[in-house]
Amino acid sequence: MLITGGAGFIGVNAAEHFIKKGWGVTIFDNFSRKGVELNIAFLEKNYPGKFTVTRGDVRTDSDALKTAADAHDVILHLAAQVAVTTSVKNPREDFGVNALGTFNVLEAIRESKRKPILLYASTNKVYGGLEGQKVIEEADHYRFANLQGGVTEEELLDFHSPYGCSKGAADQYVRDYARLYDLKTVVFRQSCIYGQHQFGIEDQGWVAWFLIAALLGRPIQIYGNGKQVRDLLFIDDLIHAYDAAIENISTAAGQIYNLGGGPNNALSLLQFFAFLKNDLGMTISSSFADWRPGDQPIFISDNSKAGNDLHWTAATEVHAGIRTLLQWLRDNKADIEKFYS
Ligand SMILES: NC(=O)c1ccc[n+]([C@@H]2O[C@H](COP(=O)([O-])OP(=O)(O)OC[C@H]3O[C@@H](n4cnc5c(N)ncnc54)[C@H](O)[C@@H]3O)[C@@H](O)[C@H]2O)c1
Repeated sequence: MLITGGAGFIGVNAAEHFIKKGWGVTIFDNFSRKGVELNIAFLEKNYPGKFTVTRGDVRTDSDALKTAADAHDVILHLAAQVAVTTSVKNPREDFGVNALGTFNVLEAIRESKRKPILLYASTNKVYGGLEGQKVIEEADHYRFANLQGGVTEEELLDFHSPYGCSKGAADQYVRDYARLYDLKTVVFRQSCIYGQHQFGIEDQGWVAWFLIAALLGRPIQIYGNGKQVRDLLFIDDLIHAYDAAIENISTAAGQIYNLGGGPNNALSLLQFFAFLKNDLGMTISSSFADWRPGDQPIFISDNSKAGNDLHWTAATEVHAGIRTLLQWLRDNKADIEKFYS
């Protein structure tokens, strides 16, 4: 398996999973995300000699991608510019990494003899602000008036923010290359993913970021009123979905799947803080600021299609998953303190 962006949060977890399954794993990454060396050090310590690392950039290293496409049966394409805020500040860079980078991966596969499977990590942000859906404001959260089961893949696309546009363009290219060139590509529109090895920052990875802020006594800003709801998907469950897509590739090829925690694993920020305080005895000092571009008041994924096609569920209960991440952060507090110093 080739994992672009394999040194990042999802990548290191995927690498560990597939190494444990006995697969040959190659990580392709430009190491632009701060802290990813820690993830590679973790793999080197625990799985020496079981994986290789190629330093490369999906924007410019087309030849390396072509060579890699002929050497692997599966490409998990995770390399990306991942923060909405950064995309607003530097839309050209965002476009280069997310849209052109994905196009380069697709072309490498199209021109290969081997035609590996491509799994693409898209985002629920392709559905934009969901302005067409009526939302009801409750005391500590928003809820959909009509979408009790969550958002399905039938929802209208409405790219918002450069990140939404670049990931959305890539999402549609990945889908169309299956249709047009008969490639085995699969798109996953992922909700918020959280779990071990997540070095969350204010701009991305908020569950880890809030827990780290609580652990280190750092203040945080809440953008919006805190009633925004997110369905949280634990990292192990996401990796199982990737695995399930490979196992069921004859069904999954050319398909798009929403993947999130679903209605049972959704929390507003205020509910998250209440859990931290009441169940975990942790408080964070916080202040409120304006909403950020493209922020959805609520997103909950309807996972039915992935459930039916891939025999997959979001198995980890959200509070249990948060406790697991918190324990990992505590176990790695020295690294965390160094990273956030
Ligand atoms: N984490 C989430 O909640 C979430 C939700 C939806 C979608 N996604 C998508 O999942 C993927 C992985 O996200 P993550 O949370 O692991 O992020 P991450 O930042 O931890 O990992 C991304 C990796 O890509 C690498 N990278 C960036 N630009 C590159 C380039 N030009 N060439 C090669 N490598 C490059 C970075 O160094 C990093 O290691 C991304 O595509 C992201 O858009 C993530």
